[in-house]
Amino acid sequence: MANIPVHLAIILDGNGRWAKKKGLPRNAGHAAGARVLEDMCEVVWNKGIRFFTVYAFSTENWNRPAGEVEALMKLLRDYMKNSVKRAMKNNMRVRVIGDKSGLDADLQESIASLEEATAGNTGLTFQIALNYGGRDEIVRAVRKLASENDPDFMKTLTEKDLSGALDTADIPDPDLLIRTCGEERISNFLLWQLAYSEFYFTDLAWPDFNEAELDKALENYSSRTRRFGGLVKGEE
Ligand code: FPP
Repeated sequence: MANIPVHLAIILDGNGRWAKKKGLPRNAGHAAGARVLEDMCEVVWNKGIRFFTVYAFSTENWNRPAGEVEALMKLLRDYMKNSVKRAMKNNMRVRVIGDKSGLDADLQESIASLEEATAGNTGLTFQIALNYGGRDEIVRAVRKLASENDPDFMKTLTEKDLSGALDTADIPDPDLLIRTCGEERISNFLLWQLAYSEFYFTDLAWPDFNEAELDKALENYSSRTRRFGGLVKGEE
């Protein structure tokens, strides 16, 4: 394919609906979604994509029923603990973005040790957004800059300064955002970073997402002309 995104972001939607359709509890949908996600990391890398970011748990997801929040946290705990081997085998670097300070201490520890163990890997960078909200990320970044710098610096703050204080510092902005299961919203995901990303929506629920659908999204992406607010050659 001519034009492969460097950074792919996905809003994993529809786990609950997938489960309901099959007569299963919602948590079975999340478990299925987590399995698909682990396989997708390998598929994505094999396509030539270098950065992969997924929305696993938003700052608003705490409002779900306690049992569902607990099940999602258990899935994430298990992932942080059990995926080191596979990540090392695949040379994959794992990072978590979001407000980690709002997570249980043991989960914070497992995240830190997975991030540390995989920090030197040079294959896919897999970013998991966890207790993540785009607005929250921007507010945290501004607070951090204000606490570390004098007021004069803040008065002349640049886009580059702010980008560098986000959780995604040093990671290029996503080229392509996919959202599954028919919804067409950003839902507070990567608000700053998606400024010029291409969007692709599919009706498939996340647990049904597969390589063929990814290929469709990549095919569609490669046919688009990205202007970044300007014109491309031939349009002048
Ligand atoms: C949206 O489906 C999905 C989520 C809120 C959770 C996504 C999390 C995972 C797939 C697990 C992440 C795991 C790892 C290993 C990082 P929904 O529940 O909103 O579905 P619905 O809209 O059909 O109810």
